[in-house]
Amino acid sequence: MAVIFVITTGCERGEPENVSFENDIKPILRRSCIPCHNPAISQGNIDLSSYDAVMESRYFTRPTPIAIAGNPSQSRLYIVVTTGRDGIRMPPEDSNLRGVSSREAEKIRVWIKEGAKDN
Ligand code: HEC
Repeated sequence: MAVIFVITTGCERGEPENVSFENDIKPILRRSCIPCHNPAISQGNIDLSSYDAVMESRYFTRPTPIAIAGNPSQSRLYIVVTTGRDGIRMPPEDSNLRGVSSREAEKIRVWIKEGAKDN
C-alpha cells in the first residue's frame, strides 16, 4: 500500500523563508547586476559583487546603505527592482540583461527583512 505524505511548507505558498545571500541573492545579482556593479565597473558607485561590497556601497550622495537590515521598503536594493521610486529602475531597460522577476524581488525583500545576513 502506498502512503503519500503531503507536506505543505511556507516555501510552496506565500513568502519565501530563510533566504540565503549565497544561494538565493547572489545568483540574481550575478546574472542581472554584477556586469555593471563590480570592483572594476561600479556604476553609481555601487559594487554588488560580494556580501561586504553590497553592505558597504553607497550611491554617491545618499548616506544610507542600499540594504537596510529589517527595512526592505527603505532599501534601494529592493526599491530599484520593484517600484523604482525616484525613477531609477534596475537593471536598466536597455541593458539586454534579464530583469528581476517578482519572485526574485520577493526573495530580496525577505532577505533584507530577515536581517540582510551574510548567510
Ligand atoms: C547596464 C548596467 C547596469 C545594470 C545591469 C545594473 N545597473 Fe544599477 N546602476 C547602473 C547605473 C548607470 C547607475 C547609476 C544611475 C544614476 O546615477 O542615474 C546604477 C545605480 C544603481 C543603484 C543606486 C541607485 C539609487 O538610487 O540608489 C542601485 C541600488 C543599483 N544600481 C542596483 C542595481 C541592481 C540591484 C541591479 C540588478 C538587478 C543593477 N543595479 C543592474 C547601471 C546598471
